[in-house]
Amino acid sequence: MAVDLLLGLQWGDEGKGKIVDVLTKNYDIIARFQGGPNAGHTLEFDGIKHVLHTIPSGIFHENAINLVGNGVVIDPVIFKKELDNLEKFNIDIPKKLFISRKAHLILPTHRLLDAASEASKGKAKIGSTLKGIGPTYMDKTGRNGIRVGDTEMPNWKEKYRNLADKHEAMIAFYNVDIQYNLKELENEFFKAIDVLKKLTFIDSEEFLEQAQRNGKTILAEGAQGSLLDIDFGTYPYVTSSNTTAAGACTGLGIAPNKIKEVYGIFKAYTTRVGSGPFPTELFDEDGATMGRVGNEFGATTGRPRRCGWLDLVALKYAVQVNGVTQLMMMKGDVLSGFKTLKVCTAYKYKGETITHLPYNIEEQNVTPIYTDMAGWKEDLTKMTSDSELPKALNDYIAFLEKELEVPIKIVSVGPDRKQTIHR
Ligand code: GDP
Ligand code: IMO
Ligand code: MG
Repeated sequence: MAVDLLLGLQWGDEGKGKIVDVLTKNYDIIARFQGGPNAGHTLEFDGIKHVLHTIPSGIFHENAINLVGNGVVIDPVIFKKELDNLEKFNIDIPKKLFISRKAHLILPTHRLLDAASEASKGKAKIGSTLKGIGPTYMDKTGRNGIRVGDTEMPNWKEKYRNLADKHEAMIAFYNVDIQYNLKELENEFFKAIDVLKKLTFIDSEEFLEQAQRNGKTILAEGAQGSLLDIDFGTYPYVTSSNTTAAGACTGLGIAPNKIKEVYGIFKAYTTRVGSGPFPTELFDEDGATMGRVGNEFGATTGRPRRCGWLDLVALKYAVQVNGVTQLMMMKGDVLSGFKTLKVCTAYKYKGETITHLPYNIEEQNVTPIYTDMAGWKEDLTKMTSDSELPKALNDYIAFLEKELEVPIKIVSVGPDRKQTIHR
């Protein structure tokens, strides 16, 4: 059986959580493959809004097993809070939520290191969510990390102590003002580890192999977005994992030839939270309107998201790097009322017009070239079928499909599960 893959094509927060929730009815297993609690995936149904950070977005469905893959980094403290939030929904967590033994743990000192590193960078800071993501992946690739499976070993606390002591020396080395009480943080951490250990740890690559043999359907859920990918994103203003399609192979142990559909999600405009270049960013009333109507505040940090027009140069790049087979356009409803919409179709770069993403996309190197499109006035949020969509929106969609050479199969017109139009 094939595995399908869903990932964000911009700088994150495209609406992955919502669409995974919508699609879960078609799958037996939903598997997160990278990132950690830097993610905030929002789901809305029955008038309730849920935000998940580490737990996959299929958790509210009876039919699906949710798997946290080896490529994910887990903060037990945040994980415990997520579980606490789910308590009232009567979900059989040990039966429905499995964790890869090979997933790495975020230690309290990883979070402190993140804060120290950012503080030491001053204006050049990444704008990290400060969840310890970078330092944890550094320990993973540096071969010093502690994995979920280690907590089943008798000597793991010794390993923990050695690593935490080393981290403390590193924090001191940064020589910045970071206040902390490690004893308190560790108490909280070890309590949360005890909760984590009540869950089902598995060798997830083996589990997924068996699942495929038994004809089960699998949806891999990405976190962040393609432009935050450690290799292909706007480095160094990126996260520390491969957010693109290849990350699903390494983050779950799935062979590339098993992947069938690659669902690419994008907003009808663009947002970014944190630092880094953003060619189509708006600093005017239009940007403020997108932020206000789109309620563009980070689901994890609450920070306002920077807003701008759709950047087709960047989007094409993401479609190409991921091999996207189906597109999903989110938040079209937020653009209702704009008289004219701009879509960036090329960049002015060193005096030339280019249509590919160059090495440097900072403001001083790149000026967006826009194509104007007519806007629509209609409120989309109550629309339920393709036939109701206004002509100007259909023209916008047709233009994007032509440029990107991939069909847009879902148009999302609001945050609720039901506000989803299949085409
Ligand atoms: P994710 O990280 O990709 O899962 O996205 P987030 O949950 O961080 O951010 C997406 C935000 O947009 C959430 O608040 C969603 O509830 C909301 N949302 C998703 N789709 C739509 C849509 O089509 N229209 C509107 N107005 N909001 C949406
Ligand atoms: P979801 O899955 C949007 C951004 C941060 C920062 C950079 C590095 O909800 O789409 P990190 O904490 O990884 O060190 O931060 O990446 N970032 C996200 N932006 N959505 C996310 O996740 C993000 N996860 C990280 O703002 O710029
Ligand atoms: Mg998010």
